[in-house]
Amino acid sequence: MSTALIILAAGQGTRMNSELPKVLHAIAGAPMLGHAMQAGATLDPDHVIVVAGHGAEAVRKAALDFDEAAQIVLQTEQLGTAHAVAQAAPLLTKYSGDALVLYGDTPFIQPETLARMQAARASHDIVVLGFEAADPGRYGRLVTDGETLLRIVEFKDATEDERAITLCNSGVIMAPCALLFELIAQVGNANAAGEYYLTDIVGLARAQGLSATAVTCHEAETMGINSRAELAQAEAAFQARKRAEALETGVTLTAPETVHFAYDTWLGRDCMVEPYVVFGPGVTIETGAHIRAFSHLEGCHVARGAVVGPYARLRPGTELSEHARIGNFVEVKNALIGEGAKVNHLSYIGDASIGDESNIGAGTITCNYDGVSKHTTVIGARVFVGSNTMLVAPVTLGDGAMTGSGSVITRNVAPDALAIARAPQVDKPGRARKLFDLLKAKALKRDKGAD
Ligand code: UD1
Ligand code: CA
Repeated sequence: MSTALIILAAGQGTRMNSELPKVLHAIAGAPMLGHAMQAGATLDPDHVIVVAGHGAEAVRKAALDFDEAAQIVLQTEQLGTAHAVAQAAPLLTKYSGDALVLYGDTPFIQPETLARMQAARASHDIVVLGFEAADPGRYGRLVTDGETLLRIVEFKDATEDERAITLCNSGVIMAPCALLFELIAQVGNANAAGEYYLTDIVGLARAQGLSATAVTCHEAETMGINSRAELAQAEAAFQARKRAEALETGVTLTAPETVHFAYDTWLGRDCMVEPYVVFGPGVTIETGAHIRAFSHLEGCHVARGAVVGPYARLRPGTELSEHARIGNFVEVKNALIGEGAKVNHLSYIGDASIGDESNIGAGTITCNYDGVSKHTTVIGARVFVGSNTMLVAPVTLGDGAMTGSGSVITRNVAPDALAIARAPQVDKPGRARKLFDLLKAKALKRDKGAD
């Protein structure tokens, strides 16, 4: 079934107490809006429409970051969920598929749940996602008769009997697009909140002899975020799920509760991740790679058998080839590290490529920035860079070249050449002894003066 996605994201989110629109607060490195869009994307929608209001410009930017085909409509006044959905109508006048309404602040709806809703649409006009609430609080209640959903009643408008219902409305609704807008046009605001309730469409549809049903999911999926405390809970819930997933797919996590994943972290089978590793967005780790303790990775790809850390930092654009080795206190950014190449200690490698089997000595720095522009360092295969070499980019070291420790390399080095660029050593026989004697005598004099 073809589907148009309508994501409601106009609300202010007062309880976040933030300059940032609520839906742009991040969970596992992605705005919650992105999580909702990602779940919806699994239905391969023909349209992705985000209804923005508070902080609309920022919301637009984030939505386009996630899906450049997304369309943003403005709801300048927040008059209710039905009014919000109605803002998408002009973009869908000729659309003959279904509409799926999601909330931008409800990031955990699972693709499998949406698929079940789609399946239920085969036999019902309107499908609502409900859940059994441990504490139904102020959620809208689903009034059912067997499989039939009769209507949804908002907490504020509910009778005592209706408030006793524990089957609650998640807010997710699926219906034929044309029908949805037709029903929304009939929704009024004569209710306790004075709002246009999207939920009213169920009762209206039933009155016209159309059918509605509820599909249910686990309450955890429908978790909406309204405060920083809930944001932290959502993060914890996401991390717990991602860790369990990693373990299930054959990744070893020696201390799972200390490893922090991003929404899109991908780890191959038999990877090993030691304690206190943080994955930012955009990380893929191939089979059998080993990420040692206290490392921080983002926007990078680590090939089979590579070893990272402990205490390594891989920044965006880092590509580690098979069996490469990045050791402690090494930072790598926008760089290709060749097969079996080693950068084992205390180095910065940025805007660079390092050929296969090269060895980069401790304390090596690619001086990639001249204060205005970034420049590239190219290191060939089987190069030996001596400890504490400064590679002033742009510069190239040919295959098999070598640099002397402490060199400041400002010109290209030919293949197989040795470059030494440091002050020559000067030896003064006996001079150390004299210097020591002089210094000791001075110290003695000073101490006596102090008595
Ligand atoms: C809504 C449902 C309720 C359900 C609950 C689940 C209605 C009338 N009620 O209530 O049955 O149990 O969600 O969380 O639909 N929004 C807009 N524009 C508006 C109003 C809302 O974009 O004019 C957005 C909000 O930013 C939010 C979402 O829609 O993301 C839900 O709105 P909210 O006001 O939180 O609805 P609830 O009162 O919680
Ligand atoms: Ca809400």
